[in-house]
Amino acid sequence: MASLQSSFTVLATTPTPRNSSLSKPSLLPTTNARRSHRFRVSCSSNGGGGVDRRNMLLGLGGLYGASNLISGRKANADPILPPDLSQCDPTGATTTSGGQTVSLDVDCCPPYTDIQSDYKLPSFTTPRPSGGGSSSEMQNLEFGGESAGTDTDEDVVITGNQEEGGATSSQHTQNTGEQESPRMRDLDVTDPDDPRGFTQQANIHCAYCNGPYDQPDHPGLDLQVHNSWLFFPFHRWYLYFFERILGSLIDDPTFAIPYWNWDNPRGMFMPEMFTFPGTPAYDANRDPSHIPTGTNPVVTLNVGSTVTDPVQIISNNLTQMYNEMIGTPASATDFMGQPYRDGDAPHGFSGGGTSEQGSHTAIHVWVGDPNNEYNEDMGNFYSAGRDPLFYCHHANVDRMWTLWKDIPADYSKEITDPDFLKSAFMFYDKNKNLVRVTVADALDYKRMGYEYEPSNTPWMNYRPQQRLVPANLESLSKTAQTVAKLFPLTLNNTVKVIVPKPATGKADETLVIENIVTDNTKLVKFGVFINDEDDKPEEVDRAEYAGSFTQLPHRVKAKQSTGNLRLNLKELYENINIADDKSVVVTIVPIINGSAVTIGSVKIVPRVA
Ligand code: C2O
Repeated sequence: MASLQSSFTVLATTPTPRNSSLSKPSLLPTTNARRSHRFRVSCSSNGGGGVDRRNMLLGLGGLYGASNLISGRKANADPILPPDLSQCDPTGATTTSGGQTVSLDVDCCPPYTDIQSDYKLPSFTTPRPSGGGSSSEMQNLEFGGESAGTDTDEDVVITGNQEEGGATSSQHTQNTGEQESPRMRDLDVTDPDDPRGFTQQANIHCAYCNGPYDQPDHPGLDLQVHNSWLFFPFHRWYLYFFERILGSLIDDPTFAIPYWNWDNPRGMFMPEMFTFPGTPAYDANRDPSHIPTGTNPVVTLNVGSTVTDPVQIISNNLTQMYNEMIGTPASATDFMGQPYRDGDAPHGFSGGGTSEQGSHTAIHVWVGDPNNEYNEDMGNFYSAGRDPLFYCHHANVDRMWTLWKDIPADYSKEITDPDFLKSAFMFYDKNKNLVRVTVADALDYKRMGYEYEPSNTPWMNYRPQQRLVPANLESLSKTAQTVAKLFPLTLNNTVKVIVPKPATGKADETLVIENIVTDNTKLVKFGVFINDEDDKPEEVDRAEYAGSFTQLPHRVKAKQSTGNLRLNLKELYENINIADDKSVVVTIVPIINGSAVTIGSVKIVPRVA
């Protein structure tokens, strides 16, 4: 049994009292259509990546050599190879529970065929005009199946926009009896081995995350698409084929997965159209307190937060978005995730990029039902794809990648490492052909035939308000200890420590929290503040908030993980308007399971670009 990759688990949220002003969300959740356009699929069997790896390395010359040194990568490393489907272990799916790795009673191996080919992207054609992708597509999502039959007459358009666009899905929703193609959920029943079926599609996520696949030529070493630079490209391809298959089954090649814009206050609720029992987009396995009529309907992007005031939650969310998209990342891999190559053991907490670890994970946690054994559906990787919301959530995650790429920054947003570009995955396309796709082909989403309808991104301007008067370091230091006295320590309580700076005042520096040792089976979170006089750890929309560390329980062989947390301070120094001080006071606040984490030390170093 494979036993070495991470899984995803959730905290049990304590329902907080209903806030009477919020019994019915006044800001309706909105989703926006992810736009796509007509395309053609063709397969080729030209047998491979074509480019000689050695030539590639030579071509990149000195640049490649330099990054090689910096990352300290193994000389013999190679891209992650696509899984060998014939080797998929049907009993290999596991998750973490109560400190143990437990087998899941689920076979998420795909049907196997040995006929494979490289996938060729369709040629680019003109996108549909704005406004055409209507949410009525979303309302049905055309999963079909058991619930659709009883509800055909009641399908309601929530925010339809048909008059402005071309084809919409409405014509398909009214004629279920006459449809020639089966719907996705129908296939689960009529042909469970059809790779286009809904359950088969959901299983893709389980197979790539919960252990059934080993890395080719590395028996026992799991293939894992989370916590690394594979995160965005893998999920982009996953959605791509899901979208094309769904479009083909409903005979609408323009079908587009709508995105759930949880990054906007108007979208910080569970989209209502997913919440009607008996409709295809419904899933009973969600946190009941988070449905629109639940006790706690506002999305929180801060895992473990106990804030109940919706205004504060939304402000925290926007700050979180600003930080993970703009404020925190100082390199492409900071945002995308760390390198992960052939033969590498899957990374733990420190491998994922700011977006994956931040809003992405938070939404999984927020939607999944903590009353279920493994927080199904969204709260565990193996089951997340069973919730139709997953696809709309990940459309927005993918949109974040596109937005981040366009935000000007003082670092390059490209990862040119061949081991990244040549990493590959296997999918079934809409014609049930098994195809191989690469990361390189997923970098330009417009080439893949879709784009995103624009919507507001208020977080882009949500940098925390700058302090006018710097904190008084002298009085802050009175309640703090020195590094030497305090560390190492177990994080049972909030601690304050005086940390020397290499340069005075507003320098380009990084805080490093070193040798963080965590219990892998526990959800762990702590927050970090700099020169904080207010001590309100629940309010993360303040200049003093430097960031947080979140570890989801995950499965690795070792019981503990060790890693460092690096937080860039340049912008924070400006925000707190730091004086020409030679040190700062760092506050570390345990938020979840502080007793399961020990910290070796804390230091501030000049930032390594
Ligand atoms: Cu593959 Cu949102 O996880």
